[in-house]
Amino acid sequence: MFEALRGVSLIVERGQWVAIQGPSGSGKSTLLNLIGCLDRPTSGRILIEGIDVSKLSDNALAEIRGGKIGFIFQSYNLIPSLTVLENILLPTSFTKKLRKTSAKQRAEEIMARLGIYHLKDRFANKLSGGETQRVAIARALINEPSLILADEPTGNLDSSSGSEIAKLFKDIHEQGETIILVTHDNDFARKAEKIYILRDGKLETQER
Ligand SMILES: Nc1ncnc2c1ncn2[C@@H]1O[C@H](COP(=O)(O)OP(=O)(O)OP(=O)(O)O)[C@@H](O)[C@H]1O
Ligand SMILES: [Mg+2]
Repeated sequence: MFEALRGVSLIVERGQWVAIQGPSGSGKSTLLNLIGCLDRPTSGRILIEGIDVSKLSDNALAEIRGGKIGFIFQSYNLIPSLTVLENILLPTSFTKKLRKTSAKQRAEEIMARLGIYHLKDRFANKLSGGETQRVAIARALINEPSLILADEPTGNLDSSSGSEIAKLFKDIHEQGETIILVTHDNDFARKAEKIYILRDGKLETQER
């Protein structure tokens, strides 16, 4: 068995923004997938708002994933044959949290905030990298999650789109979101309140 993570212990307070850095292959995406309930740990516990998600049924997990967690994937995972608006609304179909009309209204507000409102009817495969990234962020925000998990959200962007996204994260954080950010970009990581380094399956606190 391949052991990607060993003895990792991480506590993130509500409203906190933490960054996780570390070399390629050190297990950062694995850790985010575990926190985001996309994977189950072989041992250990993961508590989200006091609930041990490692013990929940698949249905209960799906409900938590849909309602509490906004995931921005390393590869954006937009559906190319859907429009921007349809992609953003997709997570609302997995949870009963928002009504259809308020979901659409919220999607429009988020698109306006992220500067992608004019793209709402464009198909996802007709977007630039920076636009795609914004849509992925909008989709992560649509269900008003209590936790944002972001895996290299600026990984494929030029530096000016990258710093736009960094600003956006700062805004989102100031609105009270809890954020766990994985990034190779040191400047972006420094915007977080705390930086951890994952190395050889272990998490170390970065001294500043
Ligand atoms: N499903 C899997 N089965 C077996 N090994 C895996 C699986 N997924 C990832 N790994 C391995 O686990 C290790 C950690 O992978 P992970 O994707 O978490 O790294 P990472 O830190 O996100 O890297 P990067 O910075 O390149 O994205 C790697 O050695 C990878 O090959
Ligand atoms: Mg990764």
